[in-house]
Amino acid sequence: MKFLLLLTFAFCLFSADLEKGAKLYKKCTACHGNDGYGKKSQKAPMIAGQFEWYLKEQIYAIKNEKRLNNNTKKMYPYVKNLSDEDIENLSAYIASMPKRK
Ligand code: HEC
Repeated sequence: MKFLLLLTFAFCLFSADLEKGAKLYKKCTACHGNDGYGKKSQKAPMIAGQFEWYLKEQIYAIKNEKRLNNNTKKMYPYVKNLSDEDIENLSAYIASMPKRK
């Protein structure tokens, strides 16, 4: 029983917060869409249901200006101030969004 409680506690500490992720995602919809399917007019790709690790890597790469081109420059202002926790929650939320059929 104690072990279970500990496990639940650890889970709460280390699991991403999807609600916070959903709130943060509101900043991304202008280009990636409410559904995360992307927008051709913005040259923003579909991201819904993508692997969490990949999303995280790309958000960091764009934030740290390692992935730098005319498209990522447009996104940079939206990610430059995100904390590690924000990126964790955002990536988990986007990964949980249903993929386009
Ligand atoms: C101003 C438009 C714009 C906004 C706002 C924006 N993005 Fe992007 N995003 C882009 C564009 C354009 C690309 C494609 C970059 C490229 O061509 O290399 C991109 C790429 C990405 C990628 C990489 C996708 C891949 O398949 O490699 C991720 C992940 C991503 N955006 C997440 C986000 C998140 C999370 C937010 C909100 C915090 C956000 N974006 C806000 C325009 C935007």
